[in-house]
Amino acid sequence: MNKWTLETTKEFPWPKFPTIVEESKEANSVGEFIEHSYFDMRTDVLTRKITLEKLLTGDAYSSHDDALVTSINLLSNFVEHDMVLRIFKEMQIEFSTLAAILELPSARKTKPNWYKSFASNGSRILQVPETIVDDIRMSINDDIYNLQTNDSEWGGIGYDNEVRYTREDSPILYEELEKLFDNMNVIHAVENYMDNEMILEGVTLHVCKEDDKHWNMTQADKPPTPFENLHFDPKNGMMKCIFYLDKVGIDDGPFSYVMGSNRWDMNPFHKVVAKAISVSNYMENGWRRSQFASLPKSMQYCANIGAFMTGDEDILENKYYTGPELGRGNLIVFDPGGLHRGGIVTDEGMRTNLQIMFRLAHKGKALGFI
Ligand SMILES: [Fe+2]
Repeated sequence: MNKWTLETTKEFPWPKFPTIVEESKEANSVGEFIEHSYFDMRTDVLTRKITLEKLLTGDAYSSHDDALVTSINLLSNFVEHDMVLRIFKEMQIEFSTLAAILELPSARKTKPNWYKSFASNGSRILQVPETIVDDIRMSINDDIYNLQTNDSEWGGIGYDNEVRYTREDSPILYEELEKLFDNMNVIHAVENYMDNEMILEGVTLHVCKEDDKHWNMTQADKPPTPFENLHFDPKNGMMKCIFYLDKVGIDDGPFSYVMGSNRWDMNPFHKVVAKAISVSNYMENGWRRSQFASLPKSMQYCANIGAFMTGDEDILENKYYTGPELGRGNLIVFDPGGLHRGGIVTDEGMRTNLQIMFRLAHKGKALGFI
């Protein structure tokens, strides 16, 4: 059982997105053209008629009668260029990811005893021993102190209070985490799940505070909904961990995951468009919403569904708390393709965690295109 062979359990519950009074028939027929071209090409990738090399060199797009490129170009007649470019980019990334998974050797086979429930739910909490948490905290103590005590002005991208660590600038931190994930079988779980070699690539220290802005980017001009920021990630070929470095209670905005949502059924075309829209149009004002609603009807989707939900939806979030009194762990491993969100901090709470990414890899190197 891996991500690509999991059975779907229910239809993905798309909320109602912004619309305009009069739909454009021309735009809708361009949407159909794009959808057909997308599925034609996707089929060729899945049947290995199109190779990873052809995708990466761009040959795949010119040798395919340019149907996808032509149809995507037509979209510029109806909406902003940024969205058009992002949609095409997102399709290219998806095709390359699928081709890589098909062509590269499979993952290691050892599975932890918690693998089955992890694969089925899309998420699993584990307990890292306190001594190891202390060691890791120690190595980044100054950054934690600075983020927790300084008032920062949000720059409009990323988190309000964050420090990013790369393998090059923080080799010891990466080494410590790699050892931990090997001992706890986390790397084995994510490799089996993705059916590919994976590598730890991307560690961000994040301190979440009550006055944070980042979680309210989508429809920022509207009041937060009860599910604000519930989303699936726009990135492909990735698995993630949230590693709490402090106790996290209800006021500290616990991370939450909708169990089993990694298996919910979604039209791949809607999915790829939703990912692209979520990072190219935040629908933060009427003009941006009208741009969204000017897309062909078949392309009006956004991965950040929380901003459009009403609170009446039949969605159950599993909120992850820590601490012995709460009986939970401090390390959450999850498939970011399922619905999740960092909770919202209230009543002077604060959450300090590492966000850790595992990316598709080959021979110890992350694949560059993802
Ligand atoms: Fe996410």
